[in-house]
Amino acid sequence: MSDFPVTALRSVDLDVPDLAAAETFYTTVWGLAVAERRPNALYLHATGADHHVLVLHQAETAALRAITFRATPDADLAALGARALAAGGRVIHPPQAVDWPGGGTGITFLDNQGRTLRVVQNDTPRTPDAPTADRATHLSHVNINSTDTAATVAFLFDVLGFRLTDRSKLMAFVRCNSDHHVVVIADAAATCGLNHVAFMMPSLEAVMRGAGRLIDHGTPIAWGVGRHGPGDNVFAYFIDPFGIVVEYTAEVLQVDDAYRIGGPGDWTWPPGRTDHWGIAPPKSEACKHAQLAIPLAEVTA
Ligand SMILES: [Fe+2]
Repeated sequence: MSDFPVTALRSVDLDVPDLAAAETFYTTVWGLAVAERRPNALYLHATGADHHVLVLHQAETAALRAITFRATPDADLAALGARALAAGGRVIHPPQAVDWPGGGTGITFLDNQGRTLRVVQNDTPRTPDAPTADRATHLSHVNINSTDTAATVAFLFDVLGFRLTDRSKLMAFVRCNSDHHVVVIADAAATCGLNHVAFMMPSLEAVMRGAGRLIDHGTPIAWGVGRHGPGDNVFAYFIDPFGIVVEYTAEVLQVDDAYRIGGPGDWTWPPGRTDHWGIAPPKSEACKHAQLAIPLAEVTA
């Protein structure tokens, strides 16, 4: 098994135009809980050990502000920053004790296409909640749109040590642990931005129960429920009140270095199908549009 310096996706920061409405949706409806409040920012945790998995920032419009990964306790963050620089990125904050909730040591940098990435180590875990039947445990993956997928993949490989697991016609699936994918890079013609954020549910049953809660609150399923090709994970996609696509997922394929990397020819569907089960209706135009509509937030520091 590869020895990854980065071992997990810890959290995602999103800009939203109405923080109060976002709190209602992401707690009451989506099933997260408040970990900490800061001025114009809300930190939300899932049921697992991560201090927080989602940070919502009050802003003018919805946007992807940052993606935070966790590194091993002894990973050399200064060397990581040097690699980011060499790969066409820019260090915003060098390695230092962070004042973000959850603490630890962190580095912030831009990748070679302007995304804000953070890597944190030795952050303080929370005590996990008792297992629940309908709540997410942690983040599963973030799917990012790229106008140059090869360049984005190369940066993740060279700087963070990711490995390719599969390449479909439109997406590259990369990993930093035994999960089939932790980041997905989607080909996008126009702009880089957020495609969707996926939250790991403890089971297929939990995906279904969570989907039912969304429907109860007037948020229909945007795509799914189904079982993906690459990664074999169960999925249900939704569009949040601000046009951001979020996913419940479960049963992500576990892989090691013996996994045969698939190519576009391995991931085709018979006519009319978009998932293994053949029960997910074709993705709605609204969902396709939303998956291309969330830009990167403007970098202010
Ligand atoms: Fe996904």
